[in-house]
Amino acid sequence: MARVDVERPEKLKNRELGELCEAAAGAIDDGAGFGWINAPERDVFERYWRGVMMVPERALFIGRLDGVVAGSVQLVSLPVQKEAWRHGCQIDTHFVAPWARGHGLARALMEAAEVEARDKGFRVINLSVRKTQDVAIKLYESLGFARWGTNPTYAMIKGEMVPGHFYVKDLEG
Ligand SMILES: CC(C)(COP(=O)(O)OP(=O)(O)OC[C@H]1O[C@@H](n2cnc3c(N)ncnc32)[C@H](O)[C@@H]1OP(=O)(O)O)[C@@H](O)C(=O)NCCC(=O)NCCS
Repeated sequence: MARVDVERPEKLKNRELGELCEAAAGAIDDGAGFGWINAPERDVFERYWRGVMMVPERALFIGRLDGVVAGSVQLVSLPVQKEAWRHGCQIDTHFVAPWARGHGLARALMEAAEVEARDKGFRVINLSVRKTQDVAIKLYESLGFARWGTNPTYAMIKGEMVPGHFYVKDLEG
């Protein structure tokens, strides 16, 4: 059985950064479901992940399968000026590389993010997902996320409009 680990690193080592870029590029090339449509050049991608590590409102979790970084998720909080919405946090850029799927890594990443959300005192976790991401939708619903709406103009993928579903999990419910 493959070994699944999730970590919230303070810093990314070069090897971890490389593996994270590879994993994310694999997920993007496979059709992804998060923001990127085409995987960027490696140096651009590395700068993106380094940037994530520098943003205080973003908590990056990395998931490993048998020791190799293969997936990730970010738990995003809002800055001070968004005081009215700061009871909620957001799940962002949740993916697992195609080669590492089906071993429970995506679920483990979400569970780790939820533990952190509870530790930080958030009342709710929000997320949105393209309507086409059936596996992700099933996973989120099994984790207790409730759909509250659908935006028909959520994403534009290669000239096609793709609707997206919006979910919330009430941590006190
Ligand atoms: C969605 C995604 C993150 C799942 O990653 P994963 O590591 O394979 O997921 P897990 O192994 O944790 O499995 C989660 C659940 O989905 C089910 N599942 C996994 N792959 C499946 C498949 N191909 N078909 C049907 N169900 C599947 C598992 O059985 C599991 O359910 P269970 O815990 O009740 O058994 C991954 O497919 C992915 O990166 N997709 C593209 C990006 C995306 O959609 N991100 C989310 C929106 S931003």
